[in-house]
Parts: sequence; C-alpha cells; structure tokens
Amino acid sequence: MSQNRKPEQESNQEPSALVLERVTYLREQLAHHLYRYHVLDAPEIADAEYDLLFDELLALEHAYPSLHSVSSPTQRVGAPALDQFEKVQHARPMLSLDKASSREELEQWMQRCRNRLGDVALTFTCEPKIDGVAVALVYENGELTLAATRGDGNEGENISANVRTIGSIPLTLSGEASHLAPKLEVRGEIYIPLDRFHAFNAAAIAEGEKPMVNPRNGAAGSLRQLDSKVTAGRPLTMFCYSLGGSEGDWQPQTQEEVLSTFAEWGLRTNPALEVVADLDQCLHYIERLELRRDDLGYEIDGVVIKVNDLSQQQVLGSVTRKPRWAIAYKFAAQEATSVVQSVDFQVGRTGAITPVARLQPTFVGGVTVTNATLHNMDEIARLDLHVGDRVMIRRAGDVIPQIAGVILSQRPTDAKAVGLPDGCPSCGSLIHRTDEEVVARCSAPRDTCPAKRKEGLKHFVSRLAFDVDGLGDKLIDQLVDQGLVSNAADLFALSRDQLIALERMGEKSADNLLGALKAAKQTTLPRMIYALGIREVGEATAAGLALSFGDMESLMAADLHALERVPDVGPVVAKSVQEFFAQPEHCDVVAALQQLGVNWPAIDVIAPESLPLTGQTWVLTGTLETMPRSAAKQQLIDLGAKVAGSVSAKTTVVVAGPGAGSKLEKAQSLGIQVRSEEALLELFNQYKKEVE
Ligand code: IVH
Repeated sequence: MSQNRKPEQESNQEPSALVLERVTYLREQLAHHLYRYHVLDAPEIADAEYDLLFDELLALEHAYPSLHSVSSPTQRVGAPALDQFEKVQHARPMLSLDKASSREELEQWMQRCRNRLGDVALTFTCEPKIDGVAVALVYENGELTLAATRGDGNEGENISANVRTIGSIPLTLSGEASHLAPKLEVRGEIYIPLDRFHAFNAAAIAEGEKPMVNPRNGAAGSLRQLDSKVTAGRPLTMFCYSLGGSEGDWQPQTQEEVLSTFAEWGLRTNPALEVVADLDQCLHYIERLELRRDDLGYEIDGVVIKVNDLSQQQVLGSVTRKPRWAIAYKFAAQEATSVVQSVDFQVGRTGAITPVARLQPTFVGGVTVTNATLHNMDEIARLDLHVGDRVMIRRAGDVIPQIAGVILSQRPTDAKAVGLPDGCPSCGSLIHRTDEEVVARCSAPRDTCPAKRKEGLKHFVSRLAFDVDGLGDKLIDQLVDQGLVSNAADLFALSRDQLIALERMGEKSADNLLGALKAAKQTTLPRMIYALGIREVGEATAAGLALSFGDMESLMAADLHALERVPDVGPVVAKSVQEFFAQPEHCDVVAALQQLGVNWPAIDVIAPESLPLTGQTWVLTGTLETMPRSAAKQQLIDLGAKVAGSVSAKTTVVVAGPGAGSKLEKAQSLGIQVRSEEALLELFNQYKKEVE
C-alpha cells in the first residue's frame, strides 16, 4: 500500500461534527481493511482504493492538527526518529521457558504438574514456538498505548513507534474489548514470514544493500531501529500467544479462551493451536508439527505446551523466572554458529571448481557439521566471507549445510579474504571463468586432471549409471592415485592381483568387486549414455537421446540439428553432446569398453514419422495464459510439428489466445483450423497419457 501523501492546507479551526464523523469512519474503515489484509489474509479492496481512503484521512488530519492521534492508521508509516529507546518496566515479568527435548522430559514435566495440582482434570495447549522477538502490547480502553521488548524480563524498551508500523497489529481493538478489559497486556512474538524474508533479501541484494542474516535477526534488527520509517519498510508480523495481565471484568478461564478472544478483538493468533489431554496426544502434535515445519512459512524452534486452565496456572506459579505451567519442547537446532577454518576448492567431474568451507565441527540439527558448500565465487562475494569468520550455519531437512551469513561484528583482525586459486587445485592447469557462467572450471582435458578423472569415474559407477557395487569413492581415489585406472574402460581391465595389492582389499572383496564389474558389463544404452558424464546430460536426457538415436554410433555421429530434434534437448545440450564426442579420447573410451565386452544393446527408435503431429505446421498467436509460448512451441516440436511464425496456406492449425490479431484473421480467411489454448492443453495431455 503506497505511502505518497500530499498534505492539505493547515487550519486553526476546530473540525465540524461532519469532519469528525468522516475521520472516525475513515479510521475504522482503514483499520478494518488492514485487518482483512494482514491478519485474515483476505483483502476486500484493492491497494489503490485503500490508498484513496488513506489519503483522504491524511489530508483531514493535516488540515485539523487537533485530530492527531497515535492510534490513527496514518501513524503506521512511522514517526520522527528517536535518539534512544525509553526504558519501560513490565507490570509483570516477561518469563522465559523451561525446556524439554525428549518424551521422558515432557512426561516428567506433566507429572510434576499433576503432583502439584492433585487429582484434577488437566488439558494442555500446544502451539508452535515461534522463532522471533518477544514483545508486550498494552491496550488501554482498546487503544494500543505501549509496545515493549522483553529486555531482561523486568525492564524492556519502548518500541511503540516501531510496532505501530506493523500492519497486522491493531492500533485499536475491535469488539467489546475496551468495555470488558479497560487495561490489557497482550504478549506475543514478532517475526518475519519466510517468503517475505527471501523477497526482502533478494531486493536488498539487487540494490547492493546488506541482506538480513536470518529471519529472527532481521526481526530484532528491524524493531531496534530508532527511525520507525525504516521499520515500516520491513516485512514484520506478529502472533499473539499469551495474556500478560488484564484489568476489568473480562475473566477468561483458559489459555484457549484467551487466544480465541484475542482473535475476536482483531489480534493475530496462530491457527495451529490445539488442546490435548495427555502425553501421547501431545507427542502426536509435536510429531505432526515437526513434519509440517518446512511448510509453515515461518521459522519455529519447537512447541510450547501450556496448562490450559488459567486458575491451575496460578496454582502452579513460577520458579526462577520460568513458569511451572509451561514448557518448550525444542526441536533439534537447525542453526548454529561456527568458525570458517579454511576454504578448499573441489574439482567436479566437469571441471567445475566449487569452494567448500571447512568449519570448526559444530552440532546442528542432530548432526555434526564440518563442511558447508559455498557454491561459487559469487556466493563468497555475496556473503563477504573471510577465513576466520564466525558464521551462521543452517540445515534444512536433509540438505547439505549452508552458510546463512557472516557475523561481521566478530570478524578477527587477521581474517583472510578468499580468492580463486591461480591453478586447478588438482592438476595446476589454468582456471577459466566465462561471462555466461558463474562457475569457474579447470581447463585441462578430462583425462589429464586427476580430480576430474576421479569424479568422472565415481559418476560412471554410480547407481543410475553402471551401478557397480563395492567400488566406493576411496577405492577410486586409490586406483587413480596409483595409476591403475585413468578412464572407465581401465576399470574392466583390472586384474585380481592388482586389486589384492591395494590397501584394505582382501581376496574376498577383490573377488566380489570383479564379480560386480563383470555383472555391470551388461548394461543398457540409456545408462551407458548417462555414465559417460556428458555435461548437461542427466538421466532423463540420456534416456531421450537413447530413444531418439537407438545406438551409440548414431548418437556419436549426430549433428546439432539432429540433436536438437530430440525432446527436451535445446541448443546448449546439443552443443555439449557434440563437443563431447568431438574429443577423440571420449570415442576411444567407448571403443575400449566395447572391446572389453561391455554391452549396451541397440534399442528401437521412435521414428520421427510416427510422431502424432509429423508433417503438420502450427502457428501460435495471441497470449497463452497457462504456459510460456516457448514451452508450448517445444512441446509441439516434440510431437513432431513444425512451428511457424506466420500463417500461410501450408499452416495446419492456428492456436489463438486473447489479443490475437492479423494472424487469426488470415487463418479465418484461408479457412485454416483455429484452436484455443484449452484444446492445445488437451492435446498435450492426451499425448502424455499415451506415452505413460
Ligand atoms: S509463552 C511464560 N508461547 O519463547 C511463557 N512463548 O523461551 C511465556 N515463544 O520469550 C511465553 N513462541 O519469545 C510462548 N507460542 C509461544 C511462543 C513463545 C515463541 C518465545 C517467547 C519467549 C520464549 C521463551
């Protein structure tokens, strides 16, 4: 929602009843629409309509300064910058939580609650533990009068101006709030949703500004801004999770009721709340939430379990700043800090040089992490990573650990910048980096660089290629280092004696390996093509090439034009295949494999003439709504059609979308068949079914 406002002439007059009425109406409307937009995620008006209402209110407030109110939606764009934050005393301390990380610990906590409460019925609420910043909001007669950080639990900082900019936090509560709870303290967590975090960082990087290290740091940093106009531009939101206290007649009985009433008043609460009655139900909730963790759209680090009944909470009380009535079940941490001890450069099968950070061993997300990939030099530059830096590392699911950011404030004075080495770390050859690619590559031919050779062999024997059992990475390293193997064919020429002479290789293992190699000799054309390790040729492309050419000789002899006719093969893949076979050593390996008895039988090709649209010429015109035109074109080509740019008597079908003009007219005048995008999709679907 835009924030370009033009001020109106100031007036010393008091506003008329009509103006007052209009201002009240506008404030209510704006608050309502902010609520629909930020809390319910269901806007009722367009941004531009919101802006019109906003501008009208701003103009009236400017014309009548006596109408100024900190609760006006116009205050959300930020107030004048502060010199420092004022300290505020919490009416009741903001507590922290005891932790449990196993079934036993949770069971013990529940038992302790039961022991203290005696023989009473007990239920618990389970809610996600949001990884953000805890805040307290004070509402007096329904108006937000103070927002404070937790600070040390007793004393926090007044961040009201910043919090007023957050669209999902109501400046005025709706419903009966002011009447029933004239003074109310709402506690909760301010955080940054993941999609907005990524979007913010992408924009920051594009502008050459510093990205946020992670959503929690981003939220904390945004709330610490002395200039609330900066905070207004940050993607913050809040989940309210507990009652800090209330004065008046409102007497909720349970945590569940607190949260449902908060929601009625327009406060944002977490829909993932559930009430459970025992340990098993609680563990079941934890299990389900952990499974959904990556889909929640915000970061959590566990589950908070609270005794539901507020009077029972009171009986339980707290010890040393932690309530007895609540506990945090922590998931294994996904994030930790570590120190970059060095950056090594690994050479891949295709010569790509990948920087890898060697880290001080750190336990994160249930495993000890010692390495993190840095992808390429651009990533190092983006992170501004130096050797010696303390870094934030993150694991998501099973993914290789990533470096999420550098903690610049802790950079040691002797930290060293990271540069690309002059030569390939394996063979010393020059490293090339072209303008089209972010990756740097070793320039040596494949056979002369030991690292490329090793990686190529590891790929050759991998599961989707020759699938040789018992030929692991370490063994390949040994075979190459000892000069026993330099290409794939050499593997099949290994003798029993040679194998037995290797480190940690017994007679039995040697026999097993020879058996596995013998069995692997009988393979298929798609596996063979994939095993060659041609750049850009993955498993699916290899299968496509096999189906189109039928045997290795035809593939090796194919020109660019023939290659590009293969489904899913574009100019880049075609060029890569052609360049691969243009190198004699690659053809020599294929021949040697064949000589050693490796066999990949020819297969029946799908003849181009048997494709469904062979001989037809199609023209696409107007807008396609469900797919890019290039994708439609490629699919038509895959089905055998020619796709032309203009309509002529030779055109078979014209696909016309919205905005089609002269081509459609011409087709109609020539009596050529015209189809809709829907019909095109139907055709694609039909063909998909046939191949399945
Ligand atoms: S209740 C006295 N509920 O966890 C209990 N806390 O370690 C008050 N947190 O400082 C907290 N999500 O910042 C509660 N659903 C949730 C929470 C939550 C995150 C944070 C909160 C608190 C910390 C306690």
